[in-house]
Amino acid sequence: MAKNLITWADKYSVGYKEIDDQHKKLVDMINDLYASFIQGKADETIENILTEMINYTDYHFKIEEKYFEKYNYSDTKLHKEQHQGFVDKVTDFYNDYKNGNVTISYDVMDFLRKWLLNHILISDKKFVNEFKNNNVF
Ligand SMILES: [Fe+2]
Ligand SMILES: [Fe+2]
Repeated sequence: MAKNLITWADKYSVGYKEIDDQHKKLVDMINDLYASFIQGKADETIENILTEMINYTDYHFKIEEKYFEKYNYSDTKLHKEQHQGFVDKVTDFYNDYKNGNVTISYDVMDFLRKWLLNHILISDKKFVNEFKNNNVF
C-alpha cells in the first residue's frame, strides 16, 4: 500500500468549509497521481488523472476568484497571478508529458505538494481571514 504524498492536517484548514473541502479533494487527487506514479501506471492512466486534477483545480480557482470579485478582495491581482502561474505550469507539464518530452518524476510531485500547501497556508488563509474580518465569511 502506497504511502500518501500529502497527509491532511488541521493546520491546512482555512476555516471555511466549502474551500477546505475543495482543498481536501485536491490533496486526494495529488495523492492519486503520486500512487499511480510510484506504481508505474500506464501513461494513459497518469494522463487521465492529470487531466482530472487540472480541471478540478480550474474549477476551484474560479470559485475563489468569484469570491474575490464579489467581496472586493484587496489582494486579488497577486492571488489570480499565482493561480494562473500554477495552471500554466501544470498545463505545460501535461502537454510535454503527453508528447513524450518529459517523464513524471518525484520533482513534479514535490512541486505539486509544495505549491498547494504553501498556497493554502499563505495566500488562501489571507483571503479567508480578510473575509472573516469583514464579516462576509
Ligand atoms: Fe485554494
Ligand atoms: Fe487560491
